[in-house]
Amino acid sequence: MKFAKSILCIGAGYVGGPTMAVIAAKCPECKVTVVDINEDRIRGWNSDKLPIYEPGLDAIVKQCRGKNLFFSTDIPQGIRDSEIIFVSVNTPTKTFGEGAGMASDVQYLERTARDILAHSRSSKIVIEKSTIPVKTAQAMENIFLSSPRSGVHFEVLSNPEFLAEGTAIRDLENPDRVLIGSRETPTGITARQTLVDIYAQWVPRERIITSNIWSSELSKLVANAFLAQRVSSINAVSALCEKTQADVREISRAIGADSRIGAKFLNAGIGFGGSCFKKDILNLVYLCRSYGLEEVANYWESVVKINEYQLGRFFSKMLKAMLGTMSGKRICLYGFAFKADTGDTRESPAKYLTHKLLAENAMVTISDPQANDNAKIDLAGYGEAIQYIADPLDAARDADALVVMTDWDIYRKIDYAQVFQKMRKPAFIFDGRNILDHKKCFELGFNVFPIGQQELTHLKYE
Ligand SMILES: NC(=O)c1ccc[n+]([C@@H]2O[C@H](COP(=O)([O-])OP(=O)(O)OC[C@H]3O[C@@H](n4cnc5c(N)ncnc54)[C@H](O)[C@@H]3O)[C@@H](O)[C@H]2O)c1
Repeated sequence: MKFAKSILCIGAGYVGGPTMAVIAAKCPECKVTVVDINEDRIRGWNSDKLPIYEPGLDAIVKQCRGKNLFFSTDIPQGIRDSEIIFVSVNTPTKTFGEGAGMASDVQYLERTARDILAHSRSSKIVIEKSTIPVKTAQAMENIFLSSPRSGVHFEVLSNPEFLAEGTAIRDLENPDRVLIGSRETPTGITARQTLVDIYAQWVPRERIITSNIWSSELSKLVANAFLAQRVSSINAVSALCEKTQADVREISRAIGADSRIGAKFLNAGIGFGGSCFKKDILNLVYLCRSYGLEEVANYWESVVKINEYQLGRFFSKMLKAMLGTMSGKRICLYGFAFKADTGDTRESPAKYLTHKLLAENAMVTISDPQANDNAKIDLAGYGEAIQYIADPLDAARDADALVVMTDWDIYRKIDYAQVFQKMRKPAFIFDGRNILDHKKCFELGFNVFPIGQQELTHLKYE
């Protein structure tokens, strides 16, 4: 079959896979190929068990795969055959050298630019889909200019991805906005229009925002910094609530009803996780510092610090509540993914908490409907101290404490009377996501410790 356009995506991860599946579904006249250096991942994408869990993803991949959606490890061929190339490789926090622990590691991005240059025989539109430091487009252009080939032009666009894991398909099918940045040159504006036309096949035109390329690059970091800031703000307030008998959920409702503030992202909890928030804020902090903006850097850094404080505070509260010792006690974690509806455990608060619990000589049971496999990889080497039991009722057997780490809906629906029967007494619940009916759990006999609300306990702590 002859396709109108040939699109390539380099990087078949949490962003590249779902994004390209949706483009393929919405643009049947385009051929969409996703390539990756990771053979296992590509094998997964070509199998019945996709390498990532995302509600609605299976159906879309099944609908398009083999028709206009292809997954391959042949990167040179993919580059040669395409006119439009999305770059969706990982850009983790740098772990070495200058900026270690803060700056974005853009080595995979540079490698990709070099691959594109080496294998291109015709002009390409190259789209930054990965989250990158502002001015990265310039670095890409410099690589493309390093060995020019006559008649081959590379136009770099920025098109950051705003999907959230767990709702990726919904976000991609019905985005609040699509942002496309370009150079404001004739070739830049033409390339930008090509990408606008692709999205316009399913996104209302008024939701497609075009901008200069640097604003587009920086908008992504700023969006994540603002979202994370809301979480840290309400979590900071939760600490004050616990001291004052105010209830953080009532505060969220009261302030969220103000249309200038809005209701979303106001649930207090153990803190944000995931592969993006921390790394993107640290990248922003690093950028500010490298431009000499120390105060601005400190301001954003405090968002990450409050997040770490919230986790530490939660753990200290657990230790105190459990009579000062966890040695030999079994702690059952309800959820290990960094949030519901994903199996992703990158930067999950549960990972941090597990390390703290094991350091106290506790035994840990991990129960997550989608993330147990990733948890096993994350915690390899701990052996007998950790058990993995997917069924939440079985997982609670002989536990001293339950800790709700992930806001999976199933944890709202379990029969906690049965859970209570299975546990050792005194039985504790630490609701790190504030999703349970605390009063009901208390009446069943649990000692209940929510976030930002009064604890409900049968024990005396004076
Ligand atoms: N995960 C999210 O929710 C999310 C949301 C928006 C933006 N982002 C950004 O999107 C980018 C990708 O994130 P992700 O979560 O999909 O990462 P990921 O680690 O799941 O996927 C990246 C993929 O790129 C591949 N890759 C690396 N170098 C390569 C190369 N030279 N050639 C071919 N493939 C290569 C890796 O093997 C991996 O499979 C990051 O910059 C991230 O910050 C992520």
